[in-house]
Amino acid sequence: MKHYAPCAAGLTVVVLQSGDQLTHPGVSVMLECRMGPGLSMSSYTMYWYRQSRYKAPIEFLTKEYDKATGRFQSSFDTSKNYFSLQITEPLLNDSSTYYCAA
Ligand SMILES: *[C@@H]1O[C@H](CO)[C@@H](O)[C@H](O)[C@H]1NC(C)=O
Repeated sequence: MKHYAPCAAGLTVVVLQSGDQLTHPGVSVMLECRMGPGLSMSSYTMYWYRQSRYKAPIEFLTKEYDKATGRFQSSFDTSKNYFSLQITEPLLNDSSTYYCAA
């Protein structure tokens, strides 16, 4: 999945996310994010958001270096250009579209 977000300089930042993932209630799941070619995560602040359905409010989950907030824990490795979100003990209502953002 590709998401495009404009940045202040008017350039286009491309983040690449892992595709659809299915899990069962209680079974941890990991979502992954990388930057597009030529971009480095170290130049950006990385975030995870989610939106449960069209027009629902967008919910902020966590950002780089945040401590675990409840069941959501991000992990950041700039050298690997890798940013992930682990959801431990997922609930049925964690079904959502998750967005990595830079
Ligand atoms: C999901 O369900 C739990 C427990 O039933 C509740 O505490 C939580 O607020 C719900 N989350 C959302 C996003 O609806």
